[in-house]
Amino acid sequence: MRVYLETFGCQMNELDSELVRGQLLSLGHEFVAHPDDAQVVLFNTCSVREHAEQKVYSRLGLAGVRKKQGEQLIVGVIGCMAERDGVDLFKRYPQVDLMCGPGELDRLPLLIDNAARADAADRSERIALAGNKSRRTATLQAAEDNLEILDLSRAFEPVANDAKSRSAYVRITRGCNKFCTYCVVPHTRGAEVHRPPAHIVEECKRLVDAGVVEITLLGQTINHYRYTHGTALTVDGHEAPQVGPGLSVFRQPPAAGSRTTSFADLLHRIHEEVPSLQRLRFVTSYPRDFGDDILQVMRDSPRICQYLHVPAQSGSDRMLKAMNRGYTVAEYLEFIDRVTTTLPDCTIGGDIIVGFCGETDEDFEQTCDLIRKVPYKNNFIFKYSPRPGTVAFDRLPDDVPDSVKRARNNALLALQNAVSARAHERWVGRSVPVFVEDIRDRSSSTQVPSGHVGLSVAGKLPTASSQVVSRRQLIGRTPGDLIVAIPAPDGAETLLGSVQPARIVGSKPLLLDGLLSAS
Ligand code: 5AD
Ligand code: SF4
Repeated sequence: MRVYLETFGCQMNELDSELVRGQLLSLGHEFVAHPDDAQVVLFNTCSVREHAEQKVYSRLGLAGVRKKQGEQLIVGVIGCMAERDGVDLFKRYPQVDLMCGPGELDRLPLLIDNAARADAADRSERIALAGNKSRRTATLQAAEDNLEILDLSRAFEPVANDAKSRSAYVRITRGCNKFCTYCVVPHTRGAEVHRPPAHIVEECKRLVDAGVVEITLLGQTINHYRYTHGTALTVDGHEAPQVGPGLSVFRQPPAAGSRTTSFADLLHRIHEEVPSLQRLRFVTSYPRDFGDDILQVMRDSPRICQYLHVPAQSGSDRMLKAMNRGYTVAEYLEFIDRVTTTLPDCTIGGDIIVGFCGETDEDFEQTCDLIRKVPYKNNFIFKYSPRPGTVAFDRLPDDVPDSVKRARNNALLALQNAVSARAHERWVGRSVPVFVEDIRDRSSSTQVPSGHVGLSVAGKLPTASSQVVSRRQLIGRTPGDLIVAIPAPDGAETLLGSVQPARIVGSKPLLLDGLLSAS
């Protein structure tokens, strides 16, 4: 069948979509670029904020119109919204034919088949949701994890010569055990399950053999990765995914005689065992239990990117407590201090929620203080959005008016802009490797302000004239995830998806200007 798949939300979803795509292609389905050409329309959805859900509802509205006009169309909602809304979604949107939670994606082909013979298939044969059994039977589920098979079935054909194909995600942990009070993820993605290190290393090797240049490891709290060997085996004796060990394990040394792979061990293993991998990065870091061992591996492994996405969420201890984040502002700052001491060039990004339940002007001012203290290169700033099913939704009133949330959001964006400017400025005059991701016409670019490219630091740097007159720009990223705009030389297309040395000659709050060193 002809399938259209649209992805909303996070990097986990992007990876899920890639795996779903590979699985459906291997079964003979084909993918189309426009929903109008499709027989099956799938939305891989996100529930983290209400805004993300609204977009999907509007897509469902359009699909409903097509069905009303008599088109034969299978409409599927997969991912977190399916899991969160459950069968309610079916009731409210009768145009939806199938639903599949993020923990059940291995069953998607079957659901599509069932929906295709809709009259024969009972509705229950078109739904695969974990429901609350996902946490109750987490241990059992981890051991016979069908999702692991989905990850392992990834296609490793030689990648296309473009940056998107040359940059890949590899999941190391599924789910989350932290239960921050505002967050729906532990409810939709279930308990924390760690993949066996051998599977992860093998996947990285095969991706690199297929031409991948950059791998980003994914986990909701990635530094909590820990695999204890010899405890979870499949029937044929192979290591199986295993549930997270619980937080106490990070407070004490490993039990005598147990053989574990920590996150630091895993990073080191990938770095050593996949020597052709040019860039290894990871998201998202949790600000607690981030050991010096991880920082040391980052320092000693030149191909591990010195970049941390480590959300603080708030700069007020009172809010952090209400959010159940499990650390204080002082502990967060102590961690940042260790990072900047061990890795002076490490860039730091984060997430902040404004207008969480009960947030006062004073709490907000403390968040501003935190942003002034940490050399963030960027922060994603979100207005608190109450999510049904979470503790905050049930127990804490959403009492900050939207106008106040908006004002705080804007104030933080302005402050973050100034902080970002400083984090970018310090790179001017230095040489950095840039992973080239895109070529843009300067005049049509909205993200990159025109008129500043090609300026060199007076007298110091060679400025190739072809670079100065070019109207096109290469857009790429440094190991620290800073975006660089470089005047494009002739034949720039051949540089897409490669890492090129560049000199940084200027900066803006969210952008560096560079010149290719080699030309
Ligand atoms: N409202 C607003 N932002 C949220 N996030 C998670 N849940 C919510 C919510 N209910 C943000 C957090 C998280 C990022 C992925 O999304 O900042 O780090
Ligand atoms: Fe959500 Fe907190 Fe888990 Fe992150 S750590 S996914 S914010 S519950």
